[in-house]
Amino acid sequence: MDAAALLLLALATVAVAFGWLLAGPAAGRLKKRGRMPPGSMGLPLIGESLRIISAYKTPNPEPFIDERVARYGSVFTTHVFGERTVFSVDPAFNRFLLSNEGRDVGCSYPSSITTLLGKHSLLLSHGAEHKRLHSLTLTRLGRPASPPLLAHIERLLVSIEPGPWSESLRREYVKLIDGFFSIRFPFAHLLPFTTYGKALKARKTVAGALREVVRKRIEEIGENGGTNGEDDRKKDMVEELLGAEGGSFSEEEIVDFCLSLLIAGYETTSTLMTATIKFLTETPAALAELKEEHDNIRGMKGKNQPLEWSDYKSMPFSQCIINETLRVANIISGVFRRANTDLHYKDYIIPKGCKIFASFRGMHLNDEHYENARTFDPWRWKINNKLQNAVGANIFTPFGGGPRLCPGYELARVVVCIFLHHLVTRFSWEATEEDRLVFFPTTRTLKGFPITLRQRPESVA
Ligand code: HEM
Ligand SMILES: *[C@@H]1O[C@H](CO)[C@@H](O)[C@H](O)[C@H]1NC(C)=O
Repeated sequence: MDAAALLLLALATVAVAFGWLLAGPAAGRLKKRGRMPPGSMGLPLIGESLRIISAYKTPNPEPFIDERVARYGSVFTTHVFGERTVFSVDPAFNRFLLSNEGRDVGCSYPSSITTLLGKHSLLLSHGAEHKRLHSLTLTRLGRPASPPLLAHIERLLVSIEPGPWSESLRREYVKLIDGFFSIRFPFAHLLPFTTYGKALKARKTVAGALREVVRKRIEEIGENGGTNGEDDRKKDMVEELLGAEGGSFSEEEIVDFCLSLLIAGYETTSTLMTATIKFLTETPAALAELKEEHDNIRGMKGKNQPLEWSDYKSMPFSQCIINETLRVANIISGVFRRANTDLHYKDYIIPKGCKIFASFRGMHLNDEHYENARTFDPWRWKINNKLQNAVGANIFTPFGGGPRLCPGYELARVVVCIFLHHLVTRFSWEATEEDRLVFFPTTRTLKGFPITLRQRPESVA
């Protein structure tokens, strides 16, 4: 998250923090300056917010975008969450928006989000500081190939019992996440009994726990004269940050940074896992093929051997499943940007200051780009398919792109692959209840898609 879903972040907060306050004057300023992309502003004040919210609360929110694309084209104007917003489902324009972040367009989050994330979080940093932190994160998370990290992920996923420290931290952390899900209103932080108020308190607790870890590390390094007396392989993110650039990161920067990684990585990855299980449950042929892939790997390894990078690299069908889940579920439906200057696109002028939403969902579910786009069909990703070029053609951007490309894009895949491996080699399952995906305020299943697990009698793991 997106923070969990960056869409959520932006949607939910903007809705309330800015919504009712700015809608009036903003609507008044709607004088023609150049030609905006066409569209409808909906009702005064609330614009089309209610329409988009009710659409995104159903399993099929497409009509909201479909109707407007049919009427106005792939770039259109609407009025949601208190502000006139240009919506784009146009691959070329979305590419422009992603790659020009920090120049012609910027991303901006309201202050309530800043407070929860901490001002040194990657999502909120800009310019040179952003570049520095982003490349550090990308080099660290972008190569989860390192054997200790892989083994660590596997241990974490397979171990069922969390320790008391992680369990109490998890409880606070869940409150913090809830804060992002809560529809906030101005001054909510003054009311500690609201979800947002609780989230702010939880942030202090989680940040405090992380600060302890950082302090301990600083002490250790001090005692061991900076080298820690150990080889490179044991370096974790905290150590790396402490050592980076001659130790120029402050304690507060490191804490904010780690916290924002937790927030951006946790909800997104667990939603991806849940959605994967949902689609596999509904598509038995895909599940059968996935089982075969993982049983083969397990069969070659013997019972309790940990997975290695080469195993991860021989899971082509798992990657098809993950891509197809990302495409259909759209964990992050798109990203908000703001024009830093007048933008000229085709015949349109999008004025400086205007809010823009680059919809990934609109591209991922477009029949022009994907045959039967609204059907879950992992086989479409098999090698030699023209979809291999989808990334190059900018019609597949589940992790965004440009300077803000998600640094967790590989880590998320590794985690889901390891999870799927242990799940399908050891268990079979069935859905306990009917459940469905909804897309507001974030992409998630209504009930968390509960399943009943059964140990496979012929378990190969
Ligand atoms: C299914 C899983 C995930 C999806 C779909 C996803 C998606 C995204 C997207 C679309 C962005 C771009 C936001 C923007 O352009 O405004 C982003 C940014 C980010 N993601 Fe992820 N993400 C996932 C998992 C993770 C994980 C596992 C981590 C870290 C552990 C992570 C950390 C981040 C961070 C720190 C940013 C901000 C980057 C920046 O602003 O420079 N994400 N993510
Ligand atoms: C899945 O998507 C990624 C881009 O996110 C791409 O690089 C990769 O080739 C795709 N995998 C398959 C099996 O199509």
